[in-house]
Amino acid sequence: MADLGSQYRRIRAEVEPLLHEVLESGRYVLGKHVAALEEEIAALCHAQHAVGVNSGTDALKLTLRAIDIRPGDEVITTPFTFVSTAEVVVLLGAKPVFVDIDPYTYNIDPDQVERAITPRTRAILPVDLYGQSAEMRVLREIADRYGLWLIEDAAQAIGARHHDQPIGAFAHAATLSFFPTKNIGGAGDGGMVITNDSEIARRVRSLRVHGMNGGYYYEDIGYTSRLDEIQAAILRVKLRYLHEWTERRRYHAALYRTLLAETDLQLPTVAPHNYHVYHQFTIRHPQRDLLREYLCERGIESAVYYPLPLHLQPAYQFLGYERGAFPHAERAAQEVLSIPIHSELTEDQIAFVSEVIQAFAHAEVAIR
Ligand SMILES: Cc1ncc(COP(=O)(O)O)c(C=O)c1O
Repeated sequence: MADLGSQYRRIRAEVEPLLHEVLESGRYVLGKHVAALEEEIAALCHAQHAVGVNSGTDALKLTLRAIDIRPGDEVITTPFTFVSTAEVVVLLGAKPVFVDIDPYTYNIDPDQVERAITPRTRAILPVDLYGQSAEMRVLREIADRYGLWLIEDAAQAIGARHHDQPIGAFAHAATLSFFPTKNIGGAGDGGMVITNDSEIARRVRSLRVHGMNGGYYYEDIGYTSRLDEIQAAILRVKLRYLHEWTERRRYHAALYRTLLAETDLQLPTVAPHNYHVYHQFTIRHPQRDLLREYLCERGIESAVYYPLPLHLQPAYQFLGYERGAFPHAERAAQEVLSIPIHSELTEDQIAFVSEVIQAFAHAEVAIR
């Protein structure tokens, strides 16, 4: 599903001198590479501010703190996401209010968002799942109409576009993850907050260093959430390849679409106004587990993102949701399967994966 070793070997000549430079410099946390990475990501996203933090999870948590999400507040989000999206809401004492997804894009359904708004709602928190923007333009109209914050979890979507705008353009703030397997990943954890709101940026900068305001004066109860120089140096090199690697992923997606066209699999649906960066290429099949086993037996890795929606997870039972509450998310959890798409794959590998899937689909139809 990822081949980070071979990715590293391709960029080793550029990365290694920087690693030595950082080690020699003695400045290991929040130095010039972090500052430069912040500027480069801000430029990529046409945003005024970018603030590096420890992880995508912290990017979300510090952003929600910066907009003063408090106990009793409600934040509307999707149950079909990585756990961090809802976890941070709970950690701040607020309540995640889930709404169902669109069954084709797997992103939050804006109509249902509007119906879930109550006097306690403070924010909408959509996720750009698998590398495709959520319906951010429509969500921003809703957020503005009701006076809500719109925070975009773009952990999986660096480089994506929506109505020809980069991620974050329609939100009050967007968050990125640099977990190693993300489209641009470090050699450890990292994350970033992108915003045009200078107060959000100022507060996140303070919260990442314990709420500090100047040397050892504290305006907030904060966190240890600094990005380090080694990660930033590696990420700066990888950022130069973002466009090339994204185009490679998109090319692989196009190959899969051609090679799998004759099967009855549901292939990823891309909204016409979206530029999808294919963090994942996620297909759908009613016999998903059998397909996964079939691939595995032939040496092909695949993954299920995510096997159980958050409202049905043991840790989230206290929210009181029952099975059947979000049928599209629940069905997707049973049927989705992500297959290898990363930029290091070869055309032969894509062809092999497609052949095996075709063989499964034909055998399956024959049995039916
Ligand atoms: C949608 C989503 N949100 C948040 C995160 C959290 O990012 P991190 O693992 O960097 O904390 C991830 C990735 O892991 C993610 O996929």
